[in-house]
Amino acid sequence: MAEIKDVGRLPADYAANGFYGQDILSVSQFDKEKLAYIFGVAHEMRVLVERFGSADLLQGKILANLFYEPSTRTSSSFMAAMLRLGGQVIPINNVQYSSVTKGESLPDTVRTLESYADVIVLRHPEVGAAATAAHYARKPVINAGDGVGEHPTQALLDLFTIVEDLGSVQNLRVAMVGDLKYGRTVHSLTKLLVNYDVTFDFVSPEILAMPEDVLDVVRRHGHSFRVTDSVHEVIGDADVLYVTRVQKERFTDLAQYDRVRDHYVVDEELMTKAKPHMIVMHPLPRVNEIAYGVDDDPRAAYFRQMRNGMYIRMALLAAVLGKA
Ligand code: NCD
Repeated sequence: MAEIKDVGRLPADYAANGFYGQDILSVSQFDKEKLAYIFGVAHEMRVLVERFGSADLLQGKILANLFYEPSTRTSSSFMAAMLRLGGQVIPINNVQYSSVTKGESLPDTVRTLESYADVIVLRHPEVGAAATAAHYARKPVINAGDGVGEHPTQALLDLFTIVEDLGSVQNLRVAMVGDLKYGRTVHSLTKLLVNYDVTFDFVSPEILAMPEDVLDVVRRHGHSFRVTDSVHEVIGDADVLYVTRVQKERFTDLAQYDRVRDHYVVDEELMTKAKPHMIVMHPLPRVNEIAYGVDDDPRAAYFRQMRNGMYIRMALLAAVLGKA
């Protein structure tokens, strides 16, 4: 068991969930039991929001939302999650207006924010930044994306959406399409799905292939997978088509980006080749990968994913602060 961080005096309604006072840095922290717990709480959060809009579970608690990279969904869903549970938020979405611009280091910024807040959500361009922040912080740190590394809370909401939409994660064929090299969401989701009965198709241009270390995790867990650059080859077999944006900001050579940017477009024509119960997922933002004509197809799950993100983040905040 990891060290329990300082989240205030143990609450009277404390639930021994294994998350109390913990950092959330990687999907490797989650086994099936922990996933079931978070998904159960997320489900309750949905009911709570639909019935009452908000609650006072985290009243008196403060979240510092620290984003060194652009974000719409992750940052606002963490904010909404905290506000709907009765807590408050210090939003730092524009680090250029903070002392980061004056040269303040990540450890010092984190030490500052934890003097005011009970939990820190961090997005940062460097792999391992969340772990570094967690090392220095006495308060829990939640990784909201560390460069091309991981995006654990996105993977949780992705898996939650699969379970909600398809009923279970049994005997599924999951195709991941697009920028598998730089896309942190597919790294985290793959590492989470290896715990289940899943076969993978990794679909990308060769220069954007899934990194070997992630493929090693898949191999180690004994899953079979196919690697191809053709979405047509996999579309008929897929139960889940997980589409990603080519991560322009990670390229050093923009000419190379231009060569691969519009490699895949999921449109109505392609959807006619898919199973009737397949779901199309995307962490968003989309650039050109999914045509707007697909949005009204009931198989388009990306807007449901977005809503689920708030419920999952409500569950995580409550669990970490000991109130779930
Ligand atoms: C993703 C991210 O930041 O990694 N966005 C998100 O959090 N929903 C995906 C992306 O930016 O392409």
